[in-house]
This record gives sequence, structure tokens and C-alpha cells, in this order.
Amino acid sequence: MKNKKLLAKLSAAAFGVAVAGAISFGAQAEEMVSFEIVDETIPQSLTGKAGDPVAGRKTAINRKKGNCLACHVMPIPEQQFHGLIGPTLDDTGDRFTEAELRMRMVDSKVFDESTMMPSFYKTGQHMVLKKFVGKTILSAQEVEDVVAYLMTLK
Ligand code: HEC
Repeated sequence: MKNKKLLAKLSAAAFGVAVAGAISFGAQAEEMVSFEIVDETIPQSLTGKAGDPVAGRKTAINRKKGNCLACHVMPIPEQQFHGLIGPTLDDTGDRFTEAELRMRMVDSKVFDESTMMPSFYKTGQHMVLKKFVGKTILSAQEVEDVVAYLMTLK
């Protein structure tokens, strides 16, 4: 009896996730965390936790998440057709600090208002798809994961 109840709860939860997933389509509905910008860098982890570079690589490749390959050549041999709009990202860990990369991921527009590079952790942007209104493209932890991955590129 207990088990049946649990099963019903679990499948309701799974259904909820499936529906929410279908609606938000990769966009994040969670509350935005606050962070401090210091000299065009974000020194502290958005989540207070370290990023996971393996998860970050997946988020970067995912066409519905980072979609970095649309614009950047990256050391990701299993995927074809890397974009050439932005610079090659094969040595970001040598050229940037973590704090600098976090700022670029959160909001590249700080450096150049007209850049093509999306602001991955910002709401209220201009000309966003309906599904992203009031939402960020990546979650705070996904930003941390991608930053951790970029730091491994040397
Ligand atoms: C729509 C195109 C586009 C997408 C998608 C995109 N970028 Fe960019 N990115 C750019 C452009 C263009 C620049 C060049 C600098 C500028 O215009 O600000 C750039 C610059 C950068 C830089 C600084 C590199 C340097 O050498 O100056 C980093 C790091 C970066 N992007 C990481 C990423 C990551 C990681 C992703 C995916 C999560 C991503 N970008 C997705 C267009 C894009």
C-alpha cells in the first residue's frame, strides 16, 4: 500500500518534470542569484560551489543550452561544423582568469554592448525568444560548470 502511494507520487513528479521541461525548453525558471561585479570580473562562484568541468563540457556542446559551437571553434572533435563568428576557444584557461570567464559567461555585453555573444545569466534582454522572457539561458550552476570547463582548455 505504502509502495503504491510512493509510486503514484513518483510518477506525478516525473510527469511534472516532463511538462515543465517541455514548456521551459532548457530555460531556467529558478530565482536568479545575486553576485558582485568587481572591475569587469565576477570573483565569487555564483553558487558558492565549484563548477564541474565534465558537466560544463556537455552544457557547452548542448545546442539548447550553451550552443557555443554555433559561434566558436572548440576542442570538441566529436561534433562537426564549429562556428567562426567568435574566437577559437582552445586556450581560454591560459588567457583568462576564472573571474574573467565568469563575467563573460554571465554578461559579455559588459565589454561590448553590440557583441553577438549571448549573456547567459541575465534577464530583461532585448529580442529574446518568448521562452526566455524572465529567464536566464543557463542556470547559475551551469555557468559555473562551463567556467570550470573553459579553465581546463590550455
Ligand atoms: C551567437 C554567437 C556566440 C555564441 C552562441 C557564443 N559566443 Fe562566445 N563569443 C562570441 C563572439 C562574437 C565573441 C568575441 C568577443 C565579443 O564580441 O565580445 C565571443 C567571445 C567569447 C569569449 C572570449 C574569447 C576571447 O578570446 O576573447 C569566450 C571565453 C566565449 N566567447 C565563450 C563562449 C562560451 C563558453 C559559449 C557557450 C556557452 C559561447 N561563447 C557562446 C559569440 C558567441
